[in-house]
Amino acid sequence: MKPNQSIYLVGGHITDFIGKGRPDWDEDGDNPTLEEHLSEAINTAFDDTGVDPDAIDRGYIGNFAGECFANQGHMGALAQRANEALEGKPFQRVEGACASGGLACVNAVDALQTGSDIVMAAGAEVQTNVSAREGAGYLARAAHWETERELDDFTFPAMFARRAKHYKEKFDVTDEDIGYVVKKAYDNGNRNPKAHMRDIEVSLEEVSSVNDNNFCFLKNEELKPHLKVKDCSQVTDGAAAAIFATEEGLNKLGIDPNDCVEVASYGWRTSPLGDVDDYTVLGNTEQAAGEAYEDAGIKPSDVDVAEVHDCFAVTELLMYEALGWADPGKGAELARSGATAIDGDIAVNTGGGLISFGHPVGATGIKQVMEIYRQMKGKCGDYQVPDVPQVGLTANMGGDDRTTVSFVLKNLG
Ligand code: CAA
Repeated sequence: MKPNQSIYLVGGHITDFIGKGRPDWDEDGDNPTLEEHLSEAINTAFDDTGVDPDAIDRGYIGNFAGECFANQGHMGALAQRANEALEGKPFQRVEGACASGGLACVNAVDALQTGSDIVMAAGAEVQTNVSAREGAGYLARAAHWETERELDDFTFPAMFARRAKHYKEKFDVTDEDIGYVVKKAYDNGNRNPKAHMRDIEVSLEEVSSVNDNNFCFLKNEELKPHLKVKDCSQVTDGAAAAIFATEEGLNKLGIDPNDCVEVASYGWRTSPLGDVDDYTVLGNTEQAAGEAYEDAGIKPSDVDVAEVHDCFAVTELLMYEALGWADPGKGAELARSGATAIDGDIAVNTGGGLISFGHPVGATGIKQVMEIYRQMKGKCGDYQVPDVPQVGLTANMGGDDRTTVSFVLKNLG
């Protein structure tokens, strides 16, 4: 979808992403609530952009499993508790599993194409108040429960262990190949004060082998050898908020387009649960990104900076191939070449991705567009890419490549 008029990302806020392994996470459970994370993201987005909350026309809130993790639904109305100026404005929840945040951004852009001028997209998830095993059961609601839940208690880790198994066997990919992605994620996260795993340092040897810090935890014996703890995204609490506007909206706000990022296009695909043809291909991501590339009038090689959905390390390699940066089976070569490092030609997941920055499910898609914005506006501190990026791409994925959203963003100014 190429927007029918210029649409701008004005800015926003990402909260600290917290959970097990981060010193400020309280293992006794005294951590910020879903509402507190969401309120912080929304109000700091107003403070950082200077946007008056009164100016917001609508809001879309990405959240996947608030009812399970936090006994809380009705996120549109929950979000309004953040700021009394929002009262009465149309706000609603958007849900598409781990692509909920990406879909909130899609809804924001569509609202701007159909009459709104200034729209907020926010997302939040709290997951650390239950064990990883119990939480895995909640996350499994994003799979086809009747046929896929039985794979393992850790259903999504098992689904991506299945992809890793097929990918390794088809293309002779090694654990060390996959380890390069994990090492990059942790190294980048070590430079990012907001990252869940900011204080955890790893070596390539540690993340490429099975050891006390990197054990195989699935019960499914066939899939168990194909996934280690450090291959996984984190169980994280956090939120993010982004404000989008039309040209008219910018005029109302008194904001110069050159201080913004332009939404050049988005692609969005949804396919039936439980219906993956080839575990070595992210077909829906490929199609969503293909639509976004075409509508933005760019090629994959034009991308300077990207945020891709590395829910598991193998997923990042499959993303490289789906997004047109590597031929089938060659994603690992791209990772090893350094091309996707912070100083590479296509800097991918510069803040640590889902593996190290963390994965508060409903916030992830919003965090992705905000990270592109932050890189383009030089706000990434120790993990800032050396040359100001002009073209950015996001790839947000719900379930096993079932709902996919991809944005192309262009720098202005
Ligand atoms: N050796 C072998 N097994 C061990 C072990 C050891 N040394 N130590 C622990 N284990 C086992 C235990 O069985 C343990 O479970 P129980 O305590 O319930 O028995 C299990 O490993 C996990 O250990 P922990 O609970 O201590 O692990 P953790 O809290 O550090 O969590 C993790 C690690 C399980 C990998 C967790 O981070 C995780 O689940 N990550 C993935 C999150 C996820 O799936 N997110 C969704 C991604 S999919 C997506 O993005 C798309 C979508 O739409 C959903």
